[in-house]
Amino acid sequence: MSTWWRDAVIYQVYPRSFADGNGDGIGDLAGVRAHLDHLVDLGVDAIWFSPWYPSPQADAGYDVADYRNIEPIFGTLAEAETLISEAHAHGIKIIIDIVPNHVSSAHPWFQAALASPDAPERELFWFRTSKERPTDWEGEFGGTTWTQTEDGAWYLHLFDKAQPDLNWNHPRVREEHLDILRFWLDRGVDGFRVDSAALLIKDPALPPVVDGEPHPFHDRDEVHEVYREWRRVIDSYEGDRTLIGEVWLPSPERFARYLRPDEMHSAFNLDFLCSPWDPARLREVIEDTIRVHEPLGAVATWVISNHDVTRPVTRYGREETGFSFAAKREGTPTDLRLGTVRARAAALLSLALPGAAYVYQGEELGLEENEDIPPELRQDPMWHRSGHRDPGRDGCRVPLPWSGEEPPFGFGAGAPWLPQPRAWKDRTVAVQQADPASMLSLYRSALSYRRSIPAGSLAWIDSDPDVLAFQRGDGFACIANLSAAAVPFTGTVLLASGPLDDGLLPPDTTVWLAL
Ligand code: GLC
Ligand code: CA
Repeated sequence: MSTWWRDAVIYQVYPRSFADGNGDGIGDLAGVRAHLDHLVDLGVDAIWFSPWYPSPQADAGYDVADYRNIEPIFGTLAEAETLISEAHAHGIKIIIDIVPNHVSSAHPWFQAALASPDAPERELFWFRTSKERPTDWEGEFGGTTWTQTEDGAWYLHLFDKAQPDLNWNHPRVREEHLDILRFWLDRGVDGFRVDSAALLIKDPALPPVVDGEPHPFHDRDEVHEVYREWRRVIDSYEGDRTLIGEVWLPSPERFARYLRPDEMHSAFNLDFLCSPWDPARLREVIEDTIRVHEPLGAVATWVISNHDVTRPVTRYGREETGFSFAAKREGTPTDLRLGTVRARAAALLSLALPGAAYVYQGEELGLEENEDIPPELRQDPMWHRSGHRDPGRDGCRVPLPWSGEEPPFGFGAGAPWLPQPRAWKDRTVAVQQADPASMLSLYRSALSYRRSIPAGSLAWIDSDPDVLAFQRGDGFACIANLSAAAVPFTGTVLLASGPLDDGLLPPDTTVWLAL
């Protein structure tokens, strides 16, 4: 059995912002089809689509109104099927996002639940009829987790009020999702990215969140039975389909429980994603990751960006280079030149580690966070729900620049739904593919060399603690210099993230070596 997902490079397409095929300023499937060659040339193994389903877009599609169709802004189901076969014809697998924790408030189940206090559909959600708000839980986007209906009942939403949480104790909720999985497996998708995977199960007693006590909705033990059931469905299909969890948990051990042999194949390495550009922390995350994955035979993943976090070139150029939602602030000074140098080094580091790697659209172009989006154009519920304290995630979701001297940079014919910085005239795909020193050229070379990196785990090479040096097999080494001084190395350079300094490896630079 082939296990493509063990060392795949998976490219995340955020459909609203990849490419616009019909000129309405919003990306769509026609745009993806027209630019599939970009992903073929880049050398990716799979595409993960952020949600493409019909949705009021209260959370950019993570509020799903119909799990068995395509958002009309993006295209049609027939077009998605065509896109799946076109990608397959290029040997590219397709992973889609599945959002099980909540639905859109426009979903027929929730609409039926709202229609009357006696509607049986209320059982599919978390409705309560108390006078006071049932708990003081704080939502994942900030603010309360309860909203009152017109008839005075409360319903639970861990995210926006347009995203009511499903009751996973109800058999209909479970059956519905198994059927949704089958719907897409029948259409040839190769896997699912499971949104907010650790949040599904709630303690029905709705206790307060107390340090040291089991959490009322994070990572409850019963959630694993859900993924065991999903895994059985996945495994009943031919081909080599995969489940990838979005599991945010502080403990690597708890995280690994989602990767037991009868659960998910892999999960996003969010510790690596959030790690500062700091050698001790990176080494610790790499070691923890390998330590908990290896005994399970699970696949480690390496991620430096996605649609929820600050773009790496912006983040790595700051004094505080780690990411956390709580500390995320715009306008914190950043040195984009330094950030770019480090993002290049981080790319080669992460792409040399054993396991699967993710590339979020625009990462391969070295795009920075757009921190200049006017308040009236901001769309992210995080921005609205935090009373504008949190800038939200719009800045990493700006439409891609393809070509040309000014916005919309070939994204489409109309004005893009979020404004693109003028400086992106130097970051278009067209400009970068003609420049061997560009970020795009680095990613293309890295993805191509990566295919010859020996499989199997890594072996650390003795080095200065601020230098991350490891071998894969006997013939390949990767050295990332996070120290303040240039360091010597031996081996033949295959690829370097930046210029070498008289045979030495400069600070903030990574090399791949043949030994
Ligand atoms: C996940 C998604 C994020 C979304 C949230 C609610 O964290 O990555 O974009 O807002 O779930 O579905
Ligand atoms: Ca469009």
